Amino acid sequence: MKILTINGPNLNLLGMREPDVYGNSTLESINNEISAYAVMNNVSVDFFQSNHEGDIIDKLHSAVDKYDGIVLNAGAFTHYSYAIHDAIRAIKIPVVEVHLSNVFAREDFRSKSVIAPACVGSVSGFGKKSYILALIALTNNI
Ligand code: DQA
Repeated sequence: MKILTINGPNLNLLGMREPDVYGNSTLESINNEISAYAVMNNVSVDFFQSNHEGDIIDKLHSAVDKYDGIVLNAGAFTHYSYAIHDAIRAIKIPVVEVHLSNVFAREDFRSKSVIAPACVGSVSGFGKKSYILALIALTNNI
């Protein structure tokens, strides 16, 4: 199985960005943990991060015929990008929405995800383990 992990805006700053909310791990170390889990479970994982909406959309498009599932932390785009919603619907690859923080326990604007209706499910609030939980869901036909 081939999985693509996409991280959106400001997630390149993990480790230094609001550690009380997002934890102390860098994106690189989180990706290394995902890779370690994937190797143990015979799954191949690629990683992509961008601060740009169009680049994330291009990456979603390019995933067609290459990946069996996508783990997506769209960052703040989660809350207002109808273009990413449409891209997820267009590609017909199962996408799991991921958040490190519990978006429902924070500011009101974070409670609304415009990408959620296009995703197969969401994981929110388990820190870096949210990514592993999404991977488990995608690779076990959950
Ligand atoms: C986030 C939550 C979003 O509301 C926020 O804009 C992010 C990170 C999370 O992983 O908890 O950038 O997606």
